[in-house]
Amino acid sequence: MKPFIRNLVSETSISCNDLIWPVFLVEGENQNQKIKSMPFVYRYSIDKLINELEILVKYGLQAIALFPQIEKDLKDEKGTNSFDQNNLVCRAIKKIKSSYPDLGIIADVALDPYTIHGHDGIIKNNKIMNDETIAVLKKQALVYSEAGCDILAPSDMMDGRVGAIREQLEQNGMQDTIIMSYAAKYASSFYTPFRDAIKAQKLDELKDKKTYQMNTANSDEAMHEIALDIQEGADMVIIKPGMPYLDIIYRAKEQFKIPTFAYQVSGEYSMILSAASEERSLEIILESIFSFKRAGADGVLSYYTPFLLKNL
Ligand code: PBG
Repeated sequence: MKPFIRNLVSETSISCNDLIWPVFLVEGENQNQKIKSMPFVYRYSIDKLINELEILVKYGLQAIALFPQIEKDLKDEKGTNSFDQNNLVCRAIKKIKSSYPDLGIIADVALDPYTIHGHDGIIKNNKIMNDETIAVLKKQALVYSEAGCDILAPSDMMDGRVGAIREQLEQNGMQDTIIMSYAAKYASSFYTPFRDAIKAQKLDELKDKKTYQMNTANSDEAMHEIALDIQEGADMVIIKPGMPYLDIIYRAKEQFKIPTFAYQVSGEYSMILSAASEERSLEIILESIFSFKRAGADGVLSYYTPFLLKNL
């Protein structure tokens, strides 16, 4: 087939408007720290990230999602630092907004970067405390929103958290903040490199997150979770991980017709990287992103975003 025909009849496309860059933050100055489990991905100090963003914004970067690596002595049982107005995420949001007012900022609402044990919520007697956790998440959501974040992305998977956060925003004059909920988040081993990136507890020590994240075997349950989150006020939804759950993305988009995003998570990033011979790396990455677009995703959170923006 001649290239022009191929281009004219292509059913999907990929542009900078489809991509969200998940970024790791670290304290300090002039830091871009390597992450062992994720080659070419770094933890940036705020100043370094501001420099890095300049070229990416020029290339059309639309939004970033922030993930902090919190200093060990700031972590505790209850994730207290998560709602400190001056924590790493709040300072990053303010600085990024003042430097790049048009860049969208997404902040994860969950306690795992802030808790000693690395769980997304508060633990008592080896059990996750749903309602106590929500009380903390509401405070976290508010400080992020007040710092200027555009989109809150609850990734904690407590029951009822979207409604609670929505109400919290309304009551505090923050009704314009968008909620992009991790509506279908599976208890996945593909998150393993991420936990290294934010220096969370290792999975063997953590046991697992199966009491609050979804069972890999299920599909109808995902539809149920998404319906609940929409009912509670989610404006957009994320399916996570991405590639092993393309069927869920497809079903979600068919059923709900709501803005739907795929999260190509850390393990997918590392897996694709190891499969790519260097000269073919762009092709294999694009192939993975096309799978999300075909399945119906409106956009993708991908650690490959900087590479894609520079090469598209
Ligand atoms: C937890 C959270 C996780 C990721 C994003 N938010 C990990 C987890 O649930 O353990 C994983 C992202 C990735 O693997 O790239 N709030």
